[in-house]
Amino acid sequence: MKTNDTTVRIVEVGLRDGLQNEKKTLAITDRHLLARKLANAGCRELELGAFVSSQWVPQMAGSSELITAVLEERRLKSSPFKKVRISALVPNQRGLEAAFESRVERIAVFASASETFSKKNINCTIRESFVRYKDVIDEAKRNGLTVRGYLSMCFDCHFEGKVSEAKVVKYAAKLAELGCDEISIGDTIGVADPRQVARIGRALISELGKKNLAMHFHDTRGTALANILASLEIGLRSFDTSIGGLGGCPYAPAATGNVATEDVVYMLHRMGMKTGLDLNELVETARWLQPIIGHELPSKVSRAGLPIG
Ligand code: HMG
Ligand code: MG
Repeated sequence: MKTNDTTVRIVEVGLRDGLQNEKKTLAITDRHLLARKLANAGCRELELGAFVSSQWVPQMAGSSELITAVLEERRLKSSPFKKVRISALVPNQRGLEAAFESRVERIAVFASASETFSKKNINCTIRESFVRYKDVIDEAKRNGLTVRGYLSMCFDCHFEGKVSEAKVVKYAAKLAELGCDEISIGDTIGVADPRQVARIGRALISELGKKNLAMHFHDTRGTALANILASLEIGLRSFDTSIGGLGGCPYAPAATGNVATEDVVYMLHRMGMKTGLDLNELVETARWLQPIIGHELPSKVSRAGLPIG
């Protein structure tokens, strides 16, 4: 480990990136219960939903009601949500209005380093997305919200093949220039390898600094933990994960789940890193979720259980 900093920040995206790709749309009450369990397990950042078209992503319908209910519960004295930051995806002005109504405190815009994926995902070109996001971000910030910017397909694309590193750095810098306070670098279809991650990660760090970067790995081909280790070794400390390994992206056919929260936390704790998360509670939550989702989740730690001692 090249830095002395042993604290790792986990952004739990299962309720959005996870559930958006499940066949079954979970009831708002189940999503609320899941959020509460995650908060009880120590999650301090929850991406709860997306203000996108429910014709495009029906699983995210009801995001507004869910966020409102969670924020309402946060007002109670002993609420597990007291210290939890809530966020949701916003693709355009219409989504921003819904975000304002729900009173969510953080939004995430989502752009792509691949032109084809941009069109499939948000029905516009990369350039058009930046024009659209400029107004969305400006207005969000004027109203006191913080803004995360996702950049998808940073480690090659299912539709286009190779994605140039220079473009990844350029578009990530563009999101920062538009006002995103954090850029999440997506391996949307889980193709990255650790050396590629170190190479692109270093280029991003020299452009944007470590603090403003998060890494978002899908575990489609089993390289996500290795990619997290490669990221740790170049000094990155923020990772997006999904309880049980739920997830994928409806517009990236090969994208399976995000790397499982409990698999990442298991590895980090064994390495002496701190996350603030309770591994037993995470495993319990993933096991509780399986019958509700209706299939076994891919997390290895939840399947194997925790070792004794
Ligand atoms: P569009 O069809 O181009 O939009 O969709 P439009 O402006 O032409 O409007 C068409 C209809 O949609 C209209 O309704 C609008 O009102 C409505 P109508 O008049 O026909 O009844 N509409 C909306 N409804 C609700 N919320 C809105 C909204 N906007 C328009 N915000 C749009 C454009 C972006 C909305 C659409 O393409 C969409 O919703 N896409 C979904 C994208 C998505 O959620 N993808 C998955 C998340 S991204 C991801 O997973 C990657 C990530 O995890 C990182 C990684 O892994 O790399 C973040
Ligand atoms: Mg994703």
